[in-house]
Amino acid sequence: MALKTIAALAAIFLSTAVLADVQSLRGDKLDTMAKKPANMKIVNIKGGIERSFKLQPPMVPHEVDKYEINLKINGCMKCHSEDTYEKEKAPKVGESHYMDRDGKMLKSLSSRRYFCTQCHAAQMGADPLVQNNFQGAK
Ligand code: HEC
Ligand code: HEC
Repeated sequence: MALKTIAALAAIFLSTAVLADVQSLRGDKLDTMAKKPANMKIVNIKGGIERSFKLQPPMVPHEVDKYEINLKINGCMKCHSEDTYEKEKAPKVGESHYMDRDGKMLKSLSSRRYFCTQCHAAQMGADPLVQNNFQGAK
């Protein structure tokens, strides 16, 4: 029993020692802060951002900080809803956004798709931390 405890403690101690050696993408020391990219503004991209695969949630090609999403209002739906999209010249939310988990079409937005920015990310003009040669499916 006591031996087992000692072995377990040794294992924990060893694994933290190993973790301390992990190198951060930001640099060689875990306690250094990443440099703040000079240009930290959300970018507006006319015409939208190309998807990497068909069912990807498209990335948001505009600023989002002014649009609140809470229990009472969904700022995104001011432009992206069935009733407003034509006037605002915005793409309408996908049909899938009205579907519940059993595949039934609802009259209003499904709660599964309420928090837009959970899936749709706005973009900063920041350089990636490491090079990446991923290519989307065409
Ligand atoms: C004032 C109107 C307006 C509001 C509010 C708005 N959008 Fe948009 N959105 C647009 C317009 C217009 C476009 C099309 C831009 C273009 O293609 O040039 C767009 C494009 C998008 C796209 C890209 C769709 C695609 O198929 O490429 C996504 C995703 C999106 N918006 C998400 C959001 C989210 C999430 C919010 C809330 C945080 C939001 N929008 C709030 C007007 C709006
Ligand atoms: C759980 C993830 C998720 C959430 C939450 C979500 N979306 Fe989407 N969205 C997707 C996916 C995946 C697609 C692409 C496939 C599709 O249309 O279902 C998409 C597509 C879109 C499109 C493009 C539609 C088209 O026909 O090209 C717009 C615009 C959009 N979403 C806006 C929104 C807005 C606004 C909200 C919040 C009210 C929202 N989405 C919430 C996953 C999500």
